[in-house]
Amino acid sequence: MLLFDRGASLVTCLQAGSVGLAMAAIGGACAAPLPAAPPAETNTKTRVAASRSISVLPLAMPESRQPEATIELPPADCTKEACLALTFDDGPDTRTTPMLLSLLKDYDVQVTFFVLGSQVHKYPDLTKQVHSDGHEIGNHSWNHSDYTKFKPVQMLDDFDRTQRLLEELDIPTPTLFRPPYGARTAAVDATIPLSIGLWNVDPKDWAFNDAKKLARNVLATAKPGGIVVLHDVKPTTVAAAKVFIPELMKKYRLVTVSHLTGHNAESPKGVVSSQ
Ligand code: NI
Repeated sequence: MLLFDRGASLVTCLQAGSVGLAMAAIGGACAAPLPAAPPAETNTKTRVAASRSISVLPLAMPESRQPEATIELPPADCTKEACLALTFDDGPDTRTTPMLLSLLKDYDVQVTFFVLGSQVHKYPDLTKQVHSDGHEIGNHSWNHSDYTKFKPVQMLDDFDRTQRLLEELDIPTPTLFRPPYGARTAAVDATIPLSIGLWNVDPKDWAFNDAKKLARNVLATAKPGGIVVLHDVKPTTVAAAKVFIPELMKKYRLVTVSHLTGHNAESPKGVVSSQ
């Protein structure tokens, strides 16, 4: 096992043995190439350490009591690394989102949630947790109405209601709007004062009831620079995430839409996508 002190200086290098990390001593230092991730059933923290950071386990302490520190990788540079943005729509929902948040925390992955104002109204504390866990929050309308059927004044009312509620909860107001169903017209684009956050990878999670098959489809459709549309309100999607997140982490840095695209509050209004 590779051991660092908190100042990141190298302490020693041992064979990882049962942990399964392939590390070699080179010239007195440890070379720690990212190993192939272990199967999904194995210890989550081990996988996180293997994929994103190096676990620090002090010697001579009972394993169950060891405080664990990690040395984080620098933020992803998506101009040089293969990045992928996972997006989860239509929530949050207490039946499914907490399990996803827990999974994302285990892997230290930040994603983008396009929330419905009506769900935020039902679950304000859960929405606050989404934000406090470091995820990006985008506006996905109040109640999933098709804005192409609205007059501009109706669009704005609906959109603003969600923005205002998030503001009331002390959550940074979204800088991205994802129209329900991706339904847009020139009037929608002109009326909504935010950039439109679309997607370019759709594994069609709504069509799957088998988590393994969905996970395979997510992995098959993912591509560098991808913005993947998923739904955290679907139990199958959350179950599949247990499989596809560690697999995706072998090939991609998983980031928010804004991180992937460089979008921020000062960006000119437009359609935010990638490649
Ligand atoms: Ni939706």
